[in-house]
Amino acid sequence: MTLLQNKVAIVTGAARGIGKQIALTLAKEGCAIAFTDLVINEQAEATRQEIEALGVKCCAYASNAADFNETHEVVNRIQEEFGHIDILVNNAGITKDGLMLRMTEQQWDAVINVNLKSAFNFIHAVSPIMMRQRSGSIISMSSVVGLNGNAGQANYAASKAGIIALTKSVAKEMGSRGIRANAIAPGFIITDMTAALSEETLNEFVKMIPMRRGGQPEEVAKVALFLASDLSSYVSGQVIQVNGAMG
Ligand code: NAI
Repeated sequence: MTLLQNKVAIVTGAARGIGKQIALTLAKEGCAIAFTDLVINEQAEATRQEIEALGVKCCAYASNAADFNETHEVVNRIQEEFGHIDILVNNAGITKDGLMLRMTEQQWDAVINVNLKSAFNFIHAVSPIMMRQRSGSIISMSSVVGLNGNAGQANYAASKAGIIALTKSVAKEMGSRGIRANAIAPGFIITDMTAALSEETLNEFVKMIPMRRGGQPEEVAKVALFLASDLSSYVSGQVIQVNGAMG
């Protein structure tokens, strides 16, 4: 299929997990991929080769999404290499959970910087390019806890709620320039991030999900494809929940 023929997408934190699946799903539709991760190690290089094997151009960049200057540098390099940037997927994210009374300033700052400031950094860097093109689709990863809150995740929930307000503001500010911005709020998706949870916590989670199972990264990626492509040409400022009716 060719929903994204001749398009270029940046996906942050795409060496593994949901970001990797999003990159693969966009690539299957003919989209060239520039992805970032903290380091381009063997795993990231394997991801790059898997994407390239689909017949599209794919470059991997080591870049800390939480760093404003590094982000601007990497976006400049991608623009030079690919010539245009049509889609931005702000996917990079971390958790550093802890109850409020025990949460350190470092835990708070790290999660806000990697999950929320990173989206500001990338939107700030790509928006002049998208404005000149008069088109672009920006997709940012929120979470079910960004809508509902979660005990032990005040930092993470706040960062993911921030993503929603950032998305809605960007959609309003840049809509007249042909730029759309949307967020995806996944529920419980089975990746390395959730593999860290104990069997007991996992079972507790599944009980709260009306569909009685965790989601697969592919099920989030299909929504990202919808938002990235013209299938969603009049959809902007929205949060799409992908959570098996949880929350
Ligand atoms: P993951 O931990 O498997 O993958 C995250 C990737 O981001 C890793 O490759 C990591 O190296 C990279 N990364 C971390 N910090 C970075 C930084 N500063 N700069 C660049 N890259 C960085 O996580 P997963 O599960 O694939 O999550 C992807 C996104 O989806 C995250 O934003 C997460 O918060 C969100 N999400 C995940 C859910 C889940 O259940 N797995 C639920 C809701 C949201």
